Amino acid sequence: MGKEELMKKLEEKIRNCQKCPLGQLRTNAVPGAGSYDAKVMFVGEAPGYWEDQKGLPFVGRAGKVLDELLAGICLSRDEVYITNIVKCRPPENRDPTEEEIRACAPYLDRQIDIIRPRVIVPLGRHSMRYILEKFGFKPEPISKIHGKTFEARTLFGKIIIMPMYHPAAALYRPPIREELEKDFVKLAKILEELG
Ligand code: SF4
Ligand code: URA
Repeated sequence: MGKEELMKKLEEKIRNCQKCPLGQLRTNAVPGAGSYDAKVMFVGEAPGYWEDQKGLPFVGRAGKVLDELLAGICLSRDEVYITNIVKCRPPENRDPTEEEIRACAPYLDRQIDIIRPRVIVPLGRHSMRYILEKFGFKPEPISKIHGKTFEARTLFGKIIIMPMYHPAAALYRPPIREELEKDFVKLAKILEELG
């Protein structure tokens, strides 16, 4: 089975999932969007109001910031893959619980295995913690490790992990926005080196 078919099947499974209580509360699950051949995969936290309405990741205010950051390094959404650790919206946009992350993260694991990205960018501390632990690294405060790179070995080759601040954190905080912009420039350099 090719990537396309595998991903479509997985997305279907996510849209019908009831593995945790968030399944009962959602309007739409948000599997992810973008290229199945993406070199870089962005992993946010969980869908918010607009993502739940539309079934697409990062389409609200944080999404606008993400679009601007991507445009800043001449990338469009169809060249990357964007998803979240938790695929259904937590009520009142609260943080996802450990149980919800544990129930949902196998979908993300599978997406990584199918897409085989060269770079993973966890956005925000929940995603940073999950991804770093998954690949055997120790999580640290996001203020300390954003923009740093971690090299992990996978069954399909080397992968670079670069945690960043969550774009929503930049909404009313210009200094965070600046850090994100700097980290995106680093990301662009890495992608260029990878060819
Ligand atoms: Fe399933 Fe994840 Fe939605 Fe929970 S959040 S119902 S595990 S898709
Ligand atoms: N915040 C996230 O973490 N993910 C989204 O998809 C939207 C907002």
